[in-house]
Amino acid sequence: MSVDHELVARVRALARLLRSTPVVPLELDGLRLFAKLEYCNPVGSIKDRPAYGMLRAAIERGEIGRDTTVVESSSGNLALALAVLCNQLGLSFVPVIDPNISPTLERILSGATARVVKVEQRDDTGNYLKTRLGRVRELCAATPNSFWTNQYASLDGMNAHYTLTAGEIAEQFTRLDYVFLGVSSAGTLAGVSNRLKEAFPGVQIVAVDVEGSVIFGGPPRKRYIPGIGASQVPPLLAQARVDDVVMVSELETIHACRELLHRHGIFAGGSTGSVYAAIKKRARALRSATPPHVLFLCYDRGVAYLDTVYDPAWVSRTFPTKHRDSEQPELQLA
Ligand SMILES: Cc1ncc(COP(=O)(O)O)c(C=O)c1O
Repeated sequence: MSVDHELVARVRALARLLRSTPVVPLELDGLRLFAKLEYCNPVGSIKDRPAYGMLRAAIERGEIGRDTTVVESSSGNLALALAVLCNQLGLSFVPVIDPNISPTLERILSGATARVVKVEQRDDTGNYLKTRLGRVRELCAATPNSFWTNQYASLDGMNAHYTLTAGEIAEQFTRLDYVFLGVSSAGTLAGVSNRLKEAFPGVQIVAVDVEGSVIFGGPPRKRYIPGIGASQVPPLLAQARVDDVVMVSELETIHACRELLHRHGIFAGGSTGSVYAAIKKRARALRSATPPHVLFLCYDRGVAYLDTVYDPAWVSRTFPTKHRDSEQPELQLA
């Protein structure tokens, strides 16, 4: 396929939408803690960056033209980012989602793109990723001029985090000691860790995953909160530079989301709660005579999680009392 220069110009012009997201200081004993508000991206999540990076690179290489149908598997945010950008570019887009998507996000997505494919069958780990990927392959085989952005292996998505997400961080800080990053496709982890290790040679990168995800070798288990974890190891993980891994439970995630809101005034989604929970778990070990500079990202807003993470009835239904009490005795649901 040849390069469509008008489409190249159009996608390059969209770079104006991706401005630097704010960094805010939070108070946590013994740490200089900072949150970078990725939910301030125009479509509402960190996924605006890889969506833009993957589309732009493929258009510049001539792999996407005006008659291309873009296809992608997503837990929600990437689908919405791609849907909005594809609309801007006049491209067709088919997202493949699963039942763990937030109902709010699904509603917005259905309004943003003509066709949404939702898989219902769980894979052999009890989750949906492998089913989604199978459906993507079928769709690509059945659709003329289809293009799978493939966030799990895309160097273009990773490079968007290297250049944009981490490029901004390198300009916003003069010192960084620890950066905590949630992992799903590992695109953020790979891009950000490489750039920040160059900018701050002593920085420690802490990867955060949820129990039930297999990314760091744990046993698979059914999971309910989208945006973090995976039921197979993403190829991009091999590109990441990781010093430490912290695993958190979904109940710790829920508890941490509420603490972020009530204690720090940050209304964020599930994966942000997972990362904040991991920081709390490590806080004592990180303290030193000079408080370390610790950064985490707020991947998306809490609004899409009102029916799940922030809904006590959903939490009680999803995590039966016995399990909840033994795992997280101090959890306040109201
Ligand atoms: C809300 C949210 N947080 C974190 C992530 C993890 O980012 P990555 O896929 O780059 O590992 C995602 C990815 O889907 C996400 O949607």
